[in-house]
Amino acid sequence: MYVCVCNGHSDRDIRRAAESGVRCTRTIYEQLGKPIRCGRCIQTADRLVQEVHASTLDSLEPASSRG
Ligand code: FES
Repeated sequence: MYVCVCNGHSDRDIRRAAESGVRCTRTIYEQLGKPIRCGRCIQTADRLVQEVHASTLDSLEPASSRG
């Protein structure tokens, strides 16, 4: 689905960039070649980035420490 209508960035684009280790939404947009414009998408994009990094941390956590 499109997260950013102004630039045509999809949730996949943003997730893929976050999975490469980028934590800043602004940096992700710059890497995708189109910077933030109207800013209406930022909350959604930030949430996607946080989800990716939270799931990455979950996968790194030792199984013995999971409740
Ligand atoms: S919808 Fe993303 S900058 Fe406008």
